[in-house]
Amino acid sequence: MHHAQHALIYTCIFSCLSSAQRLTRFPPYFNFGAATSAYQIEGAWNVSGKGVSIWDTAVHDTPQRIADGSSGDDAAQSYYRWEEDIAIIRQMRLNFYRFSLSWTRLFPQGTLNSLNPDGVRYYDQLINGLLAAGIEPMVTIFHWDVPQRLQDMGGWTNDLIVDYYTEYANRVFQLFGDRVRLWVTINEPGQYCQFGYDNLNAPFINSSALGTYQCGHNVLRAHGRAYRLYDNYYRSSQNGRLGIVCDTTWYEPSDNSSQFDREAADRALQFLFGWFINPIYSPEGDYPAAMRARVDYVSQQQGFPESRLPSFTPEELLMIRGAYDFMGVNHYSTFLARPDNQAIARFPSLNNDVDIQQFVDPSWELTEGQTYFAVVPWGIRRLLNWIADTYGRDIEIFITENGYDGFRNESLQDSRRVNYLNSYLREVLNAINDGVRVTAYTFWALMDNFEWVNGYNSRFGLYRIDYDDPTGNRTRIPKRSAMVYQNIIVTRQINESFVPDEFAFDSA
Ligand code: BGC
Repeated sequence: MHHAQHALIYTCIFSCLSSAQRLTRFPPYFNFGAATSAYQIEGAWNVSGKGVSIWDTAVHDTPQRIADGSSGDDAAQSYYRWEEDIAIIRQMRLNFYRFSLSWTRLFPQGTLNSLNPDGVRYYDQLINGLLAAGIEPMVTIFHWDVPQRLQDMGGWTNDLIVDYYTEYANRVFQLFGDRVRLWVTINEPGQYCQFGYDNLNAPFINSSALGTYQCGHNVLRAHGRAYRLYDNYYRSSQNGRLGIVCDTTWYEPSDNSSQFDREAADRALQFLFGWFINPIYSPEGDYPAAMRARVDYVSQQQGFPESRLPSFTPEELLMIRGAYDFMGVNHYSTFLARPDNQAIARFPSLNNDVDIQQFVDPSWELTEGQTYFAVVPWGIRRLLNWIADTYGRDIEIFITENGYDGFRNESLQDSRRVNYLNSYLREVLNAINDGVRVTAYTFWALMDNFEWVNGYNSRFGLYRIDYDDPTGNRTRIPKRSAMVYQNIIVTRQINESFVPDEFAFDSA
């Protein structure tokens, strides 16, 4: 009831177009894709010169951290089956494919002295194969798999990583930039720095709200440096576009009439999303004011001589501000938020800094895999409008991930994923009609893959892979959602009553 009322108000505020002008199809400039990341699909973890990353270390040294004790050692075998990947991308008629480069497949030790020719060969054939099939590659330079050698020196909390990352990005532009036009510098630094330093994801370090912020600080410097480098040396000849990809839940005030709840929802957004987006995309740059004030205050109360949230030099602020051609947004779910009113903790903790309670409305459907995301389609429309209102309507937004988490033995008739896809895309179309400049949508994921600490218990794919097949076969099998997605792409329209003709799909 409460939320239905909000939805109505939103429609009135944002319906700047009369009903006749509102689009019912995705506009011609809008592109559809699907995403993966290297560690989650490639397998071949120690083949042909590849070096060890923090995820290789984590799964081998502490398999108990992974829900099913599995690893990405073989994963979807995309190192061998990249042609099958291209075939299913074509089958769905995707416009682009978002994948990531494995830093240690290219530079086994992370540093430039150690280029691995087999890594170059692998990505060359993938990129060339996509282009030959008319599919635009969108390449993520870093998606969480830090070279272990660099982690041994502190990884993202050592300032040197800024140089190492920039040198790596430089070589990547040299190697592949003649063919790649869409670059993502870094995937989801919020998740990486938050969970990595809350001991929940690799590199599994306990340094909440200390290592966390240092990690984020170096990510922002590295992103800014890579962007300026591209500007200075590659843009004129390569003509590509760069952005960072940040994830965010939409936070809805638990009680919209409560100022405290509205502030709590805003604080949550600032700490997760504004943390990276404000320094890059806001006109004023730097960390969000609410985050700066809160961390400065709590640090001081805890007896720190300086704020735990580091500061940028004036030169760094300028380098980072405006370092984008588009904004990449990953979004899966919505939470309700209200203040937690915690006493200031003796030792730093991100949870204590943010100080909110987040929870779901009991009426919301939850996904069936291990992430238990709530399915709240209107959340994506509000998020997109909030981004446009907060950072400017001229910023071009790509949705770089959105998807539904199924259980290990889910059916190929994945009607809940179909419903998620249809209903979230419908709200994206509504946001376009609200005047938000969103020009691309990416489904996570192309196929079932290694879902980090959930192993293979969580299934995000449009295509199924049977990881329990005793022969080790990793055939890609379309789920119903893949066929529905193809229909949306071909018709540029969402049709909730569409029933796929599976035979036709096979021969597409
Ligand atoms: C990440 C992916 C992950 C997905 C689903 C994002 O956090 O970028 O690597 O598999 O969401 O949890």
